[in-house]
Amino acid sequence: MQLLNGKETAKAILDSLEIDVAQRAASGKKVPHLAAILVGNNGASETYVASKVKTCSEIGFISTLIQFEEDVTEIKLLEKIEALNEDMDVDGILVQLPLPAHISEKKVIESIDPAKDVDGFHPINIGKMTLGEKDAFISATPYGIMLLLEHYKIETKGKHAVVIGRSHIVGRPMSILLSNNSNPGNCTVTLCHSKTTNLKEICLQADIIVAAIGIPEFVKADMVKEGAVVIDVGITRIKDASKKSGHRLVGDVDFTNVAPKTSYITPVPGGVGPMTIAALMKNTFKACDNRN
Ligand code: GUN
Repeated sequence: MQLLNGKETAKAILDSLEIDVAQRAASGKKVPHLAAILVGNNGASETYVASKVKTCSEIGFISTLIQFEEDVTEIKLLEKIEALNEDMDVDGILVQLPLPAHISEKKVIESIDPAKDVDGFHPINIGKMTLGEKDAFISATPYGIMLLLEHYKIETKGKHAVVIGRSHIVGRPMSILLSNNSNPGNCTVTLCHSKTTNLKEICLQADIIVAAIGIPEFVKADMVKEGAVVIDVGITRIKDASKKSGHRLVGDVDFTNVAPKTSYITPVPGGVGPMTIAALMKNTFKACDNRN
């Protein structure tokens, strides 16, 4: 079993981006500028956005954090996005999800200029990704997983990949990317979800499992074939009195019992999480480079 070290891989990507940004700056070109919108006080969202903003400054990007109260109106949020769309200095726009129930995520996502949609959630970018078009922005978590598979030169061609979870952010795009005619890619993909009846049997046929269901330790050892590659997208904070902090982070995979059966597995934390941020930064760089 080999760990897929997302922390190290992300660092290599960010180091390389930092050099690219410095080169842009040295030749008088503008540096990438990411605008992040955070609505309300969701603790996890605050942590994620803070980490994105911090990474921007570490690699020489400019970032602007725009915060709204939980009760901001949809119109006010849409007006802000419109202003960011028009702002020539802003290259990438992200609106951290989830949004409060009174705001339509669909309207918000569709209001972002697809050329600045570094989260890759706009239907135009999802369509381009589905068609395998190179100029698509691919949403950060699936893109980060593809970069991780590429970094470790994991053979995916002809393999059976089972994706658990069909969210617009992770499972659905992941299933499409793995099935595309690309490398990594060229998998035969099964997309499982909450209505799948024979999940265990399907997982047992998988050469690659991507667990993105949001249920801690859902994937057990008896669901995994010997030698499978296991990618764990889950990250849930659970109480643990034995820890100084009083909690620990667990993924969607029962790591202790599953890891010994695998050929490769991502740890939680330090697997997919850091790759998501690296992928977002790559998208922001690309948005800047496309526009300037
Ligand atoms: N919420 C959970 N994941 C993401 C992400 O990748 N981007 C945004 N904007 N919100 C999220």
